[in-house]
Amino acid sequence: MEVIIQSSKQEACALGARWIARLLRQKPRAVLGLATGSTPVLLYKELIRLHREEGLDFSGVTTFNLDEYLGLAPEHPASYHHFMQENLFRHINIAPENTHIPDGQATDVPATCRAYEEKIQAAGGIDLQILGIGGDGHIGFNEPSSSLTSRTRIKSLTQRTRQDNAPFFEKPEDIPQHVITMGVGTIMDAREIVLLAFGQGKAAPISATVEGPITASVPASILQFHSKATLLLDEEAAGDLKRAEYYRWVHDNKPDWQKV
Ligand code: PGA
Repeated sequence: MEVIIQSSKQEACALGARWIARLLRQKPRAVLGLATGSTPVLLYKELIRLHREEGLDFSGVTTFNLDEYLGLAPEHPASYHHFMQENLFRHINIAPENTHIPDGQATDVPATCRAYEEKIQAAGGIDLQILGIGGDGHIGFNEPSSSLTSRTRIKSLTQRTRQDNAPFFEKPEDIPQHVITMGVGTIMDAREIVLLAFGQGKAAPISATVEGPITASVPASILQFHSKATLLLDEEAAGDLKRAEYYRWVHDNKPDWQKV
């Protein structure tokens, strides 16, 4: 696990975008795993800028999003379908048929989840998965106590996560109870993982993820078992890390060939 601490979320997102751009230049038909929520918004803005100003090409790229609320139509303003259109897809040259998000209106949920896993397999697996982290340590919508080997399936949100996401809904009772999310095992199959976390509210789950025990009570802690997982943090999200000075030293003293 590599921890990179940047002075601001702008810097961290610029680095994250360069990371993705490097992959797309090496592998134009790359498969990206994408996240929603407030965390990746600036990352997507930077990718859009790289597309417009530096010709970053998404025409061969395939994407799979982590999750979607059950019961929301794609055009619902709080759906992740809508989020992805507004924050990324409509601004870049990605083919709509190459973008995948779990179906929030699925009637046969287990079959929909199995089909999602099969599509990821058929695309050759995910090259690079972008993640945020919940205040409770969730990744995707894998809430605490999720099996660390779980696959795409239905999950029930905790009240805390529903409260965290309340600003995106008109009324608290509109926030869905259920979601479809890639499982922890699905996420762990990605060849590379970049988790972004910003702000003081993420300091506790980040320290538990990096320096705590591996436990289903903090699903993100399983990333300690991934051979290529990087955390891109701002100073506040890194605020509770005991070995922050060491992580900074590592990053500042990388050999040139390892720098992004
Ligand atoms: P946020 O959510 O980016 O809105 O903080 C992250 C998450 O719940 O995974």
